[in-house]
This record gives sequence, structure tokens and C-alpha cells, in this order.
Amino acid sequence: MTRAAERGDCLGSRIVMMPFLKSLPRFRRFLFVIPVLALLVWAMIPPAKLNSPRSLFHSVKGSSKKSSDKILRYIDPLVGTVNGGHVFPGATLPYGMAKAVADSDNRAEAAAGFVSDDSRIQGFSHLHDSGTGGSPSLGNFPLFVHPGCPEDDFAQCKYTTIGRAVPRIEGSATARPGYFAIGLNNSVYAEMTASEHTTLYRFNFAKEAEVASHDAIVPNSPLILLDLVDLGNSRSGGDIQVDPQTGRITGNGSFSPSFGTGSYTAHFCADFTGAEIRKTGTFLQLNVTDEIQAFGQLATNYFIPSGSAGGWIHFNRSASGQIMARVGLSFISVQQACHNAETEIPDFGFEGVVKASENAWKDKLSVVKPDHSGVSDEFLTTFWSGLYRALISPQDYTGENQLWKSDEPYYDSFYCIWDSFRAQHPLLTIMDPAVQTKMVRSLIDTYKHEGKLPDCRMSFSKGYTQGGSNADVVLADAYVKNLTEGIDWALGYEAVVSDAEVEPRDWSTSGRGSLENWHKLGYIPYDDIDSNGTGPMSRAVSRTVEYAYDDFVIALMARGLGHKGDETKYLQRSRNWKNLFNPEQDDRYRNEDGRVIMSDFKGFMQPRFRNGTWRYQNTRLCSPIYQQHVCYFDTQYDTYEGSPWLYTFYVPQDMASLIEALGGHDTFVERLDYFHSSGINYMGNEPNFLTTFQFHYAGRPGRSNYWLHQYIPGQFNASVNGIPGNDDCAMGAFTAFAFMGFYPVAGQDVYLLTAPMFRQVSLKTPSGKLATLRNIRGFDAPRYDNIYIHSVKLNGKPYTRNWITHDFFVNGGVLDFVLGSVESDWGTRNEDLPPSLSTGLLD
Ligand SMILES: *[C@@H]1O[C@H](CO)[C@@H](O)[C@H](O)[C@H]1NC(C)=O
Ligand SMILES: *[C@@H]1O[C@H](CO)[C@@H](O)[C@H](O)[C@H]1NC(C)=O
Ligand SMILES: *[C@@H]1O[C@H](CO)[C@@H](O)[C@H](O)[C@H]1NC(C)=O
Ligand SMILES: *[C@@H]1O[C@H](CO)[C@@H](O)[C@H](O)[C@H]1NC(C)=O
Ligand SMILES: *[C@@H]1O[C@H](CO)[C@@H](O)[C@H](O)[C@H]1NC(C)=O
Ligand SMILES: *[C@@H]1O[C@H](CO)[C@@H](O)[C@H](O)[C@H]1NC(C)=O
Ligand SMILES: *[C@@H]1O[C@H](CO)[C@@H](O)[C@H](O)[C@H]1NC(C)=O
Ligand SMILES: *[C@@H]1O[C@H](CO)[C@@H](O)[C@H](O)[C@H]1NC(C)=O
Repeated sequence: MTRAAERGDCLGSRIVMMPFLKSLPRFRRFLFVIPVLALLVWAMIPPAKLNSPRSLFHSVKGSSKKSSDKILRYIDPLVGTVNGGHVFPGATLPYGMAKAVADSDNRAEAAAGFVSDDSRIQGFSHLHDSGTGGSPSLGNFPLFVHPGCPEDDFAQCKYTTIGRAVPRIEGSATARPGYFAIGLNNSVYAEMTASEHTTLYRFNFAKEAEVASHDAIVPNSPLILLDLVDLGNSRSGGDIQVDPQTGRITGNGSFSPSFGTGSYTAHFCADFTGAEIRKTGTFLQLNVTDEIQAFGQLATNYFIPSGSAGGWIHFNRSASGQIMARVGLSFISVQQACHNAETEIPDFGFEGVVKASENAWKDKLSVVKPDHSGVSDEFLTTFWSGLYRALISPQDYTGENQLWKSDEPYYDSFYCIWDSFRAQHPLLTIMDPAVQTKMVRSLIDTYKHEGKLPDCRMSFSKGYTQGGSNADVVLADAYVKNLTEGIDWALGYEAVVSDAEVEPRDWSTSGRGSLENWHKLGYIPYDDIDSNGTGPMSRAVSRTVEYAYDDFVIALMARGLGHKGDETKYLQRSRNWKNLFNPEQDDRYRNEDGRVIMSDFKGFMQPRFRNGTWRYQNTRLCSPIYQQHVCYFDTQYDTYEGSPWLYTFYVPQDMASLIEALGGHDTFVERLDYFHSSGINYMGNEPNFLTTFQFHYAGRPGRSNYWLHQYIPGQFNASVNGIPGNDDCAMGAFTAFAFMGFYPVAGQDVYLLTAPMFRQVSLKTPSGKLATLRNIRGFDAPRYDNIYIHSVKLNGKPYTRNWITHDFFVNGGVLDFVLGSVESDWGTRNEDLPPSLSTGLLD
């Protein structure tokens, strides 16, 4: 009998009691009426209030309140968890390997596990990526929790991914740094946190003898299962063992990466406390047994097919109402997974792990010190949440590298460098140079052991290369900003030169393709014949402009390292963008209704045959206004995830020459304005970021400020759908730079200045000094009418250049801004413009 049914009985007895009351003396009646009234009130509370999944959520939720810390309170990890953001909102340390969250069954959106919609929750897993495109990543070994099984029979609980999924309680998802919680419609309230390589869960149960478990009423006797699957259902093989005495579940599996080739193995070690074990067993799809306690190599005759398979523990009702689950992870062995768990969280102390995580985040983020005054909570949340997301991946797998032994650090989830080289890595170089240095060492060590730098890397596997060999830019950016500690720059230089000179047999996952013609013709022809290697022969335009920039940054390194001949060679190749610039190409195209449309702009990057003849690609193809989704890794056009319109702006090494080629400053500004106002620009992708700031190169820094304030908050804001595309840990970096008042031209010692969106912001330099940007006049947040810079002083002296260099963030200093509501002539003269190859970038 359920509690709800019991209350029904009480209601019935009320009717029986009433005539009986009348026969009592008045005062006695009064005495009687109080308890009866109390009973009545209780009985009239709808059953749902007293004994529902929701009631548990409301009683436990107290621990989810906003942090009182002045940084952490503005971090909302749920920003970007719907609408393609693919953000991981769960518990993790900065760059942490263990990442705990509830996994949704919305496959299209669940790249990072959780989705802020009304999809079902199918488990709680411990490894994730954040903000990635591709298919769902990691999500291995999910736990799932039933509060009990129908008829107290373990075989009647649901075990498979599809069978066990239950709805969440609407609005119950709570996320803050180091902590994630959610109420399920099966009366389980799940809280989670994480240390470096271990996740810790606190599952809260009702105390009653019977509970509502979604579509059934079950006796309170929790069953926790651990499934060997991952989010992408990519597992092959694996082992699992349940110890019926201790309840320890250990095992492993082999899985596929989510956007690459190869496979990886992961291991786990799960322990539980808080309730007594009744029974243990295993399951294989729908077949559940308490007779078999191990699968795989451990039970010699039993190979586990892919799909749901795992172990389970049926517990007695928990006296405390809580069961703790601790899951150690390792990419080396089960033994190491157990060791990680035992050393990192020996006592199952949940609050301690949350606190340690909060402290780690505060420590990382406190190098940025903005003055919050005047800025709205919405904007503060946009800023801090973005900064926070920029430190979720790459992940520190040092000590967990299953591929080679090395004393160098090993970071994984460079997913993908094509996205992250532009803003995220430059941000880390300022905020966390020690870790950026380790990431560079890890990339160089990867070159040493795998023969090439990665362009994209996840789960010990090679990811697909989207365009150029852009790790070259990550290395060069670190090089020109003087990151040195422990970096073998001679080897780093060898790695980038290898990208430029030696074509790998399979260039779909590392290095560059079409190198013979790149060297010989100076562009990648549409009809390239490549006898040295294979890869997707598309993307001739976007690869050409990216290879040109990659060669430019190699020239910067060659210059620094004293390789004179190389410097000349790579500078020459950096001009190759000109070979695909067709000055006669107009912006005329047939729209989807068949009408021919044309703008006044002339001169676009276009594909070209080996014999030099131009080929036409619609200048707007793959932009939001014309067939946006036909330019991916496996499709055939000449620009990747963007239009010729977009790629025509990608000449960061020589914007002065590009501007000249496009008709001079005024025409360029008109064109860039048109790009931003016509719908051709898509801020949901990283190559588009820099175009917001390129007005600087044409003497109109004010226009950069203008568009920045359109995009924040129009496209980047604090709502759950508050980022326009996959986060890639990069969208937040873009936002953070915009708020602080500068934006990097990755690979160069150049930052473009915009008006800080804080009254003042200071960044701590590695030696403890401060680099401060402050608005001394005109700052008017939250209105932001005064978005234009009228004058700047650097350390007290007038400063008219619209850009600064990295030494500001090394040596510290003060930049004073005066703002106004109309564009001024600050930063507009030729001598104020950021440097270009043709105007002295190398002087
Ligand atoms: C949640 O569970 C209750 C039973 O406890 C059920 O009546 C209700 O339909 C469920 N809600 C959803 C959204 O499935
Ligand atoms: C999985 O773990 C078991 C037991 O520790 C071990 O025998 C097996 O080799 C492991 N499998 C892989 C693929 O590492
Ligand atoms: C589970 O609880 C029941 C009653 O509360 C008790 O009799 C039984 O011994 C417990 N079982 C175990 C394995 O502790
Ligand atoms: C189900 O499990 C039992 C062991 O309890 C085993 O004998 C049987 O072969 C399994 N059935 C299937 C279809 O795997
Ligand atoms: C292409 O292959 C040839 C023959 O093996 C080799 O000599 C040449 O260096 C290769 N070119 C590149 C760019 O890798
Ligand atoms: C160049 O090659 C293309 C493709 O093969 C061909 O259509 C075009 O006519 C050629 N141009 C010349 C000038 O031969
Ligand atoms: C917030 O950003 C999203 C995603 O870019 C956008 O769709 C939405 O309109 C923005 N909201 C506001 C209030 O500007
Ligand atoms: C890097 O170091 C060199 C030599 O010590 C110095 O000249 C240069 O200014 C430094 N650059 C930056 C960006 O700090």
C-alpha cells in the first residue's frame, strides 16, 4: 500500500467521525477538533506535496544556493546548454579530467552530456568534453539510480540506456563551479562534484518506506547500476567486476573518439557508502542476473557486445537518506583508477571536494580583477561565465597518458585548435601562462611521439583537421609572447616546419595536404592532384588562406630563432593569399528563389584551377543567408564552415595589403559593415571573431566598438541559450576579451584596443604587478551610450595607437581611457594602425 492510499483512508474516516463529534460536550468537542483539523489539513494537501519526486528536491535544494563569493556568484555554468552551445555545465576543476554531470537523451544536443530542455536523464557520467561540435563525446560508465524496483525485484528495474531514462523535475538543475545537482522524476535528487580524476555523487532518497519512481510505486530500496556505455554508444569490448561484499565495481572499455579516428581505453573504480548491500549482479541489455558478477576477460567465456552492459547493487533503504558514490577514473588501468579515487577523496567528504573546487576556480579566476560598479548582473554573468568556460578544456591528463611514457605534461581535448587558437589560447597566455606553457609542451611532445602536431585532438585520438595546421599559430603565439619555461623551442620549430614541408600520408587528421602545389603554384588548386597523401580535397580557398597565415607565423619563429633563410621563404609563402584573390569577382549570386542579387563589392577569394583559370564559388555560400550547412569536413566546397565573404577577410598578416586590394579604407569599412549587417556574418563560429575588430586596420576602431556592443548582449549573453554556436571554450574567451577592452591577433604580438566594458579592470602579471585598463571619463554602464574611445594614456602619456603589445601584460602598467558617445579621431591615423607585413609588422 502506498502513502497516498493511506491518506485516502483518512479522508474516508473524517466522514465517519463527524456525527460522533456531535454527541460530545462542547469543550471536549474542541479538544477533539484540533487534532482532527490538523489531520484534515494534512489530508487535504495534494499527495504530490508530501510524497513526490518534487518534495525531495525542495527539501534538499538548500545546498544549491548561489555562492556568496564575489566571483563565483556570477558564474552560471548553464549558459550555452541549449541551442547548439554544447557547454558542459557539470562539476569540474579547471582543466580537470573528471567531469560529472547528468546526461540527457537528446542526442543531437548532448555533445557534453547535459541539455537544458525537457529531455530525459539517462545517467550520471564522469568524463566529458565541453562545447564541441562533432557527435556526443565521452560520457563513459554512467551510473543510474532507481529508488527501488517494482515488487522489490531487481529484475524489474530498468537497466538499458533507453529503458531507464526518466524525466527531470522541471527547473531543478542547479550548477555552480564544482557542483551540479538535479532532481529526477523517480524521487532521486542527485548531487555531484569532482576532483582531478574522481567524481563524487550524493544521491538523496526519500525516507518513506515506499516512493514514487516515475511510473511506479516502489519499496524504498535503492538500486544503483553502472553501465559500460558512453554517450556515443561507441564501446567495443570491456570488462566489469562487482564485488558482492564491498560493493566495489571496477572495469573498463574501449571506445571511439567523437570527431576523429582510432580508439581509446578508459578504466573506472566505483565505491559506494550510505546503505547496506542486499544483492549485486550484472546486466547485459535486458538480461539481468544476480548469478554473474563479472564480464569480459575476467569471466573468460564472456565477451561483452556493444550497447548497455554493466553491474548493479541493490541496497537496503538508506538510514541517512543518502548514498555516496565515488568513481575513480584512469586511462592507464583499473588499479590506477582505484588509486586516484582513494588518494583524492579518501573520506567521501562531499562538501570538502566542493570547497576545494571552488577554491581552485577562485584561484584561477582571481588574476582578473574588474570593478563591478555600474555593470548589470546580466553582463557580469556573461563575463564571468565566459571566462570560466575558457578554462574547462583542454584537459590535464598528465600521468594518464596511455600512449607513451614521457616526463612532459600531457593535455588532451584540444577540440579543436582550429577554434581555440584564435581567442582561447591567447587568453590563457595572459591569465594562466604557466598552464598555457604546459599545453605547448604537451603539443610539442605529441609531435615528438606521433610525428605531427595535432589540429584537433580528443581522447588520445587524432581529430579531423578543419583547415590549416593551426597548432603552428598556438606555438608561435606562445613564442612571440616569450613563454619559455621548459619549452624546447628547437623541437617546437621543427614541428611547425614539418607541417609546412612534409606532407603526411593521411592529412585528414594532421599536417597539411596538397603541399606540392602549395609550394609550386602558391595556392591549392581546385583540381589538385596530390600524389603524396590523401585527405578531403575540398576547401581549397580556406586551406590556402590558413596555410598562408600559418607560414607567416612560422616566419616569425624563424626570425626569432635566427633561421634567416626560412624567414624569407615563409614570408614569401605568407603572401600566397593573393593567388586566390580574384579582383574581378563580383558579389552576384542567384538566391534560393532564383533571383539574381548583387552588391557593389568587388574582389573575393575564389577557387582556381591548376592552369590558373578561375572557378566560381557563390560568394555567400555557407553563410547564414545562403546554404549555411553545406561546408563541413565531409562536404565538397572550397570554403570550410564559412563563405568566400568571410575568408576574404582572413589576412591577419597583411591587412594593409588586403584593404588596398579591396579598394582602400572607406570601401573596406563599408564592406565590413555590410558583412556585419547583411546576415552574412555568423558569430557562432570562431573564424568570424576577428572580423568584429578589423575596422581597426582601416582607421575606424569606433566601428569595432559599435559591433561589439551589438554582439554583446545580442548574441552573447547570460541566458541558457546565450551563445550563438558551439562554445569550443572559445566563445567565452571572445566575450572576456571584449569586456576587458582588447582582442588578440593570435600569433602576433598585437592586441587591438576597444573601450573596456568595466569602469576598470586589472590583470595580475606573472610577477605580481598589475596591468590596468580604466575608464577615467565617460564610463556610463549599464547604458553604454559612450562606447567610443576619445583618448588614451599609457602610463600617463598620450597614446594614439589603437593597439598594444604583450609587454603590457608582462610588465604591468595603466591605460586610461576617455569615452564618448560619438566616434572620435583617436586611433585613426595611419601611424596609429596595427602593423601589417607591408607596413612594418616585422620592424
Ligand atoms: C512524474 O512521476 C509522477 C509519478 O510520481 C507521474 O505521475 C508524472 O506523470 C511524472 N511526470 C513526468 C513528466 O513524467
Ligand atoms: C580491463 O581491466 C582488466 C582487469 O583489470 C584487465 O585484465 C584488462 O586487460 C583491461 N582491459 C583493457 C583493454 O585494458
Ligand atoms: C535490510 O533491512 C532489513 C530490515 O530493515 C534487515 O532485516 C536486513 O537484515 C537488512 N539487510 C541487510 C543485508 O543488511
Ligand atoms: C541471460 O543470463 C543467463 C544467466 O543468468 C544466461 O544463462 C543466459 O544465457 C542469458 N541470456 C541471454 C539471451 O544472454
Ligand atoms: C612527396 O613525395 C616525394 C616522393 O616521396 C618526396 O620526395 C617529397 O618530398 C614529398 N613532398 C612533400 C611536400 O611531402
Ligand atoms: C583550365 O582548366 C579547367 C578545368 O580543367 C578548364 O575548364 C579550363 O578551360 C582551363 N583553362 C585553360 C585556359 O586552359
Ligand atoms: C542571447 O543570445 C542568444 C544566442 O546568441 C540570442 O539568440 C538571444 O537573442 C540573445 N538574447 C538577448 C536578450 O539578446
Ligand atoms: C620577449 O623577450 C625579449 C628578450 O628578452 C624582449 O626583447 C621582448 O620585449 C619580450 N617580448 C615580450 C612580448 O614580452
